[in-house]
Amino acid sequence: MLLRSALALPAALASVLAVPADAPAQGARPVAVVDGNAIPTPLTDSPGDAGRGRAIAVDRARGNCLACHALPVPEPLQGNVGPDLRGVAARLSEGELRLRVVDPKIVNAETAMPAYFRVDGLFRVRQDMVGRPILTAQEIEDVVAYLRTLQ
Ligand code: HEC
Repeated sequence: MLLRSALALPAALASVLAVPADAPAQGARPVAVVDGNAIPTPLTDSPGDAGRGRAIAVDRARGNCLACHALPVPEPLQGNVGPDLRGVAARLSEGELRLRVVDPKIVNAETAMPAYFRVDGLFRVRQDMVGRPILTAQEIEDVVAYLRTLQ
């Protein structure tokens, strides 16, 4: 009985939104999407850190947000494929920001923006990235904390 309920749990989480297999190991909670527009509940128990989130956002090997967005940072070569993120926290709530980083395709299936915390429904995934999200649950929270500073 105990074993059965332990096995049933990941399937129940997956029906909320498919999350990386190691998400529980990262201390991640189920990802609950509300009204197809927001994820109000943080993915982790430990709060995001805006300083770490800023570093992830500008790091070309991690968030690489600057490839498509402008941010209030001195780095050169900022992108304009996506909207300028200066002031984005005045436009979107915390939950709306979190959903757009986790999986913007929930809002716009055609978007050029990658889903940073989703592993199902992807194609042409680099072999070493199969089953792994681009960012961890904690990194998502760090990026959301940073975006919330962009008033
Ligand atoms: C390959 C290009 C690309 C990358 C990389 C990218 N985005 Fe986006 N992003 C977009 C586009 C395009 C949109 C506009 C939404 C749409 O397409 O429907 C968008 C929209 C957004 C929005 C909603 C903005 C608004 O005003 O509605 C947020 C927030 C956002 N991105 C954050 C990020 C963050 C944070 C990163 C890095 C972790 C990132 N994006 C990386 C292309 C990108």
